[in-house]
Amino acid sequence: MKKQSMIHHSKFWEMHFIQNATKQRIDWEIKAALTSDDKEALLYSIKAWQLGETSEGKHLLAAATRYANKTNDHHYIEPVKLFIKEEQKHGANLGKYIDMLGEQRTKKDWGDTLFRKIRYFNKSMELWTITVIIVESAAQVFYEALQNASDCKLLKSICNDILLDESHHIKFQNERMYIIFNNKRFYNKAISLVLYSCLFFGTIHAVWYAHKKAFIKGGVNKKEFMRRMYHKFFKSMQFLHANHSAIDFKEQEQDQSLLKKVAF
Ligand SMILES: [Fe+2]
Ligand SMILES: [Fe+2]
Repeated sequence: MKKQSMIHHSKFWEMHFIQNATKQRIDWEIKAALTSDDKEALLYSIKAWQLGETSEGKHLLAAATRYANKTNDHHYIEPVKLFIKEEQKHGANLGKYIDMLGEQRTKKDWGDTLFRKIRYFNKSMELWTITVIIVESAAQVFYEALQNASDCKLLKSICNDILLDESHHIKFQNERMYIIFNNKRFYNKAISLVLYSCLFFGTIHAVWYAHKKAFIKGGVNKKEFMRRMYHKFFKSMQFLHANHSAIDFKEQEQDQSLLKKVAF
């Protein structure tokens, strides 16, 4: 019989983020080196993603706090805070890279402004979570392309660090989405799936048109971008419909004492 995969509890994720934050994977002694061709194709996108990764996360945290109080999963707030911090680390690293190139960081980008507006009005944890899953999936495809788009070793190692973090972010969000989705009735699930698909369809087109130069430079054409995005989205949707084992709260209490040892 196929082994059921586990939905991890909030304390598990808190420990994961605490431990991951101790890992230093980038060698800042390496020189930032982009050719003028690389800059022409990549700089706009590097700056735009840098800005996007720098968000304060206030609205996400407010939605997570409301949700945690409503569902009595008070431990959920902490991993969300650490998740935001990890995203800000990506922003800080990309910012440092832009500075090392002697370029100016951007303060405004239409994609970022659009997402900030959506974030402002978004009070639902469900909408937050599905949006983050879609954006994280696009981020994975983007940073993989960026990693292959130049010979700059420093940029490659920054992308590698982000990609290692992002694969856990998707798991973290998929598991929360599973919990939210499976508390819905059958017909509400069907309506939600239509809405998720519309959001997915709109977002992937916005990401492609904003960053196609960088994707193409990294060897990812439109067809390949769409294929990878659909694959990731369907994997997340499949995860929502699988039969995962329930959260083990006993384990959560054990991990809580372990967490104290890690943190102090
Ligand atoms: Fe990120
Ligand atoms: Fe992320």
